[in-house]
Amino acid sequence: MREFWSSSIGKKIAVGISGAILVAYLVLHMVGNLNALYGAGDGDARVDDYAHWLREFGEPLLPHAFVLWVVRVVLLCALVVHVTGIVQLRRRAAAARGPHKAKPIGRSLASRTMVVTGVLVLAFVVFHILQFTTLTIDVTPLREGAVYANLYWAFQKWYFVLIYVLGVCAIAFHLRHGIWSAAQTLGYVRPNRDRAIRSAATWGSIVIAAGFLSIPVCFWTGVLGAPA
Ligand code: HEM
Repeated sequence: MREFWSSSIGKKIAVGISGAILVAYLVLHMVGNLNALYGAGDGDARVDDYAHWLREFGEPLLPHAFVLWVVRVVLLCALVVHVTGIVQLRRRAAAARGPHKAKPIGRSLASRTMVVTGVLVLAFVVFHILQFTTLTIDVTPLREGAVYANLYWAFQKWYFVLIYVLGVCAIAFHLRHGIWSAAQTLGYVRPNRDRAIRSAATWGSIVIAAGFLSIPVCFWTGVLGAPA
């Protein structure tokens, strides 16, 4: 295991697998969030039922919120492996280039901004968890389990809408290049597939971003009404 991690290819594989776990969560979270589009309901919004279901999943065989905690631990481990692996790989590459840093040529904007978007995504996730999970950032009314109402009140404020738009855009950029480099590491990229992989990465990121952004946009524009 130690040998695997200390080799560059081992680290790249670990970064790719942990990235895939994070992307899988991202897709599931985005699809789960779409339950908010069903609206406030008659006092029992569908997105609130979904949040309860997540906590009750596996009961009575498993304790309350057990699966949710397993997911949280897996996500945290994946995040640590992903960030540590990338930081170490970049350090190695910089050391190999030596003091006369040659300017990388032909790299996309997303590639050059990978570190910037990565840091923005991390900052966004910390902010986001403090707002909707721990309910610590309580500028707007927040109540445990009342997901629809929490989203509604938060996205009446233009600055929260703006933060989510910027956070999701950072994720889309990060994801687009991440999918591309994972394909490269796995050896899928060939000259005849280059364009197809690039457009799959671009469209995949756009679909995920659009799914996430539909929520703040629908609340902000009044398409989704006040909680019952
Ligand atoms: C507009 C976009 C988003 C909305 C409306 C949204 C909404 C929410 C809500 C309501 C919760 C709390 C769920 C609950 O209490 O059951 C939550 C939790 C969370 N979200 Fe998001 N989210 C968005 C984007 C994202 C993005 C882009 C990421 C990742 C980069 C993310 C990562 C998380 C994480 C890690 C949690 C904590 C899950 C937990 O362990 O309880 N979210 N989100």
